[in-house]
Amino acid sequence: MTQGRSFYITTPIYYPSDVPHIGHGYTTVAVDTLARWHRQAGDDTWMLTGTDEHGQKMLRAASANGVTPQEWVDKLVTEAWFPLLRTLDVANDDFIRTTQPRHEERVKQFVQAIYDRGYIYAGEYEALYCVGCEEFKPESEIVDGTGAFEGLKVCAIHSKPLELLQEKNYFFKLSEFQDKLIELYSSVPDFIRPDSARNEVVSFVKNGLKDLSISRSAFDWGITVPWDESHVIYVWVDALLNYATAVGYGADPDEFARRWPAFHIVGKDILRFHAVIWPAMLMAAGLEVPRGVFAHGWLLVGGEKMSKSKLTGIAPTEITDVFGSDAYRFYFLSAIAFGQDGSFSWEDLSARYQAELANGFGNLASRTTAMIERYFEGIVPPPAEYTERDLAVQKIVKDAAANADAAIERFRIDEAISAIWTIVDDLNLYITENEPWALAKDDAQRARLGTVLYTAAEGLRALAVLLSPVMPVATEKLWVALGVSGRLVDQPLRDAGGWGVLQPGSSVNGLAPLFPRVEQSV
Ligand code: MSP
Repeated sequence: MTQGRSFYITTPIYYPSDVPHIGHGYTTVAVDTLARWHRQAGDDTWMLTGTDEHGQKMLRAASANGVTPQEWVDKLVTEAWFPLLRTLDVANDDFIRTTQPRHEERVKQFVQAIYDRGYIYAGEYEALYCVGCEEFKPESEIVDGTGAFEGLKVCAIHSKPLELLQEKNYFFKLSEFQDKLIELYSSVPDFIRPDSARNEVVSFVKNGLKDLSISRSAFDWGITVPWDESHVIYVWVDALLNYATAVGYGADPDEFARRWPAFHIVGKDILRFHAVIWPAMLMAAGLEVPRGVFAHGWLLVGGEKMSKSKLTGIAPTEITDVFGSDAYRFYFLSAIAFGQDGSFSWEDLSARYQAELANGFGNLASRTTAMIERYFEGIVPPPAEYTERDLAVQKIVKDAAANADAAIERFRIDEAISAIWTIVDDLNLYITENEPWALAKDDAQRARLGTVLYTAAEGLRALAVLLSPVMPVATEKLWVALGVSGRLVDQPLRDAGGWGVLQPGSSVNGLAPLFPRVEQSV
């Protein structure tokens, strides 16, 4: 088999000091769905996620808990971050931790390389730093504190006091890349998506770039600067490099050439790091810039960005324990336009679960398979002559598959799901219109009944394939129930819209409800 085109996609690497919340889960399932789609479409896919374990934030959290930073991150990664991937059915190909030797060694190589190329110099620095963001803050993101922090300067994002840092630092000549970055944004118009994110970055860069402090000497929880052991590399430089170190930068040229460049999916809070600093670092090293950066919006709870520090954090298991992982994935990916903010509420989740999953898709699957069992002893009937209406179903399936694939190319998972949902809606309508239960009472209509149930079942076959990247658990159950030969994950996704894949004569097994009734008190 020829190897498909390379598709390398990443999540941000998360700070393990927070326990995972639904915002982290959102990014991760979005990336997983895109990766599953491309993998199943035959592209040479690689999905990376991981944890960002150095920096002052981690050091402080560890000492507040009376353990070394390494012990602290080991515990959190094992107890909270690996399990998150299982909770959400994420099929990542790799998980990078920035404390792994593979990463540390390659980061040193990279920083040495840009030092040797003349992009790093030593200087003095004095500025206000936010440990929450792990970032020196520009004027525009500094506000006056209120309440307990009255009279202090605080970070606009974290509402916590900033710290004045004064040190000798090494600087990266970011300012030299202004023109090259502007040129990149105009020559590759969808380098940054969506447009709102692109516009924000373009105007930020047009306003001028300052050189970036890339080392710290006040603490040592980080990767040492190779030519000056009294400094550690700034945690964001260390973190951004994960995308390259994980695929063999500096160690495995073949692997690196095969995977790089990547698509990065990030929350809009960290867009500038990815769309400005990271490509400039790569340019300085003479490497290819990323293939693109997509910034999604924030999950809002009660109108505010959900965050643990503001006590609005919700753990993914709170949702999956009640509704299951498929519903988690479906809900966040379909209810929020990818790229925009979206409000989370238990009422909305519950209503969509009931309407779209239980009554829409689940019911379609169970009634179709139940009717094949009841009227055809569980054997898929052959279709007889197709009517206009049957052909209309076939066209809807074909168009939905093509539209969904096109939407995924644009990273619009929400639009892909709504394209696929046209099949669910049309098949439910089709069954209502054709009343197979009435056809079943009339022997003369036996052939017509077979055509109607074949059409519904073949539509479900397409749905199983198209929805498998979004809801791997339910679609697998449906696949098994439909009795189609071959594994679901091996079904070529870009051919899902074809007709006649399900073979008449194959046996359908009973299907337990895909989305059982949820008894809960939210
Ligand atoms: N460690 C850095 C990223 C380094 S990448 C080289 C970091 N980590 S983080 O743990 O704070 O995670 C940030 C990411 O989590 C966001 O970019 C976003 O993808 C996701 N989210 C965190 N809170 C979120 C919401 N309230 N809503 C949506 N996504 C959120 O920043």
